[in-house]
Amino acid sequence: MNVKQLMLVLLLFVFFFSSCKIKTSNDEQLLKTIDQSLQVACEQYRQMQLNVPDSLFPRTYIDGQVKLVSIYDWTSGFYPASLWYLFQYSKDTLFLNNAKKFTSFLEPLKHYKGTHDLGFMIFCPYGNGYKITGDTSYLEVILETSKSLASRFNPKVGLIKSWDHNHWQYPVIIDNMMNLELLCQASKLNNDSMFYHIAATHANITLKNHFRPDNSTFHLVNYDTLTGAVINKQTVQGYSDSSSWARGQSWGLYGFTVMFRETGDSTYLKKACQMADYLIRHPNLPSDAIPYWDYNAPKIPNEPRDVSAAAIMASALIELHEYAPTIAYLEHAKTIIRSLSSANYLAKTGTNGHFILMHATGHLPANSEIDVPINYADYYFIEALLRMRAKLESAS
Ligand code: GLY
Repeated sequence: MNVKQLMLVLLLFVFFFSSCKIKTSNDEQLLKTIDQSLQVACEQYRQMQLNVPDSLFPRTYIDGQVKLVSIYDWTSGFYPASLWYLFQYSKDTLFLNNAKKFTSFLEPLKHYKGTHDLGFMIFCPYGNGYKITGDTSYLEVILETSKSLASRFNPKVGLIKSWDHNHWQYPVIIDNMMNLELLCQASKLNNDSMFYHIAATHANITLKNHFRPDNSTFHLVNYDTLTGAVINKQTVQGYSDSSSWARGQSWGLYGFTVMFRETGDSTYLKKACQMADYLIRHPNLPSDAIPYWDYNAPKIPNEPRDVSAAAIMASALIELHEYAPTIAYLEHAKTIIRSLSSANYLAKTGTNGHFILMHATGHLPANSEIDVPINYADYYFIEALLRMRAKLESAS
């Protein structure tokens, strides 16, 4: 064998082993950590279920009280959607029974046209319920809800209107990307392209107008309904119009990753990767990878964290790594999961109003839900744990 041939064999050898999925001892350790966190999650929600009255949904825990909300709150779907995931993991039928029951309470929302948040409210619980049980009655609700969401699409603007309140003419927030999966699924179910067209048009115009040159996203873009032109770009929940509100960045990352999955359009994948690169290299991201509530908050490091932004980001990065296998995406998701599973963020069982994570921030400028547990942080944390677990389990 000459030197060239030897080099070739060596290269092939390196390529073969670097592309093999080998579970390292760190991954074995992470699997144990994930199971421990999932057990804490099960224990907390087992207890939580005992005190949740019918038709109400636990949202947060403030001043020693669990705050319960009605079906019309944008977070109502996360409680039953989490129960579905916990049933999937534990096979505990108490989770199954309550997941079914609390999912069914949400059914009237299928005719509700007053918000863009129907993806969170309906697709998270009904989508999970369908995936886990195969019950086709859930599909009818998904389809009907898509009609309600589609009623908020204005073809002149090319976007779904986010909110009806306040002074904006046609506000669209980055969070709205999270509702497009509902439409894509309904398009497949109904075998027509209308919902798909609405979702893709919304994503395309978001791509055009919501992003800054560094791939961070504005929170809200306000449009003129007569011309479709942008009126202004601003924040509502972030520190300033030009800052990067942490959860908004995570919604965008997750939303464009899902849109690539649903459409195969590589421009969405490119944007998701650009967002991921911006976020994981951000100079204001602490070493434990749990962002402050806004990446540009003025008093960093003395600012509240937002575990919800971290959990959404971890879950998105695990999926993104399937389509763009950059090792940094997976490693970053692992760092987030390890941090959220530590005593710094994971509640002790029996505390925290039986929520799983501590230290989420809902709406700091409105002085609302600062440094508290919140149901959507728990939901995306459970999802990230299950996704990472499946990924590690599938490694040889
Ligand atoms: N969609 C509202 C929020 O993320 O707070």
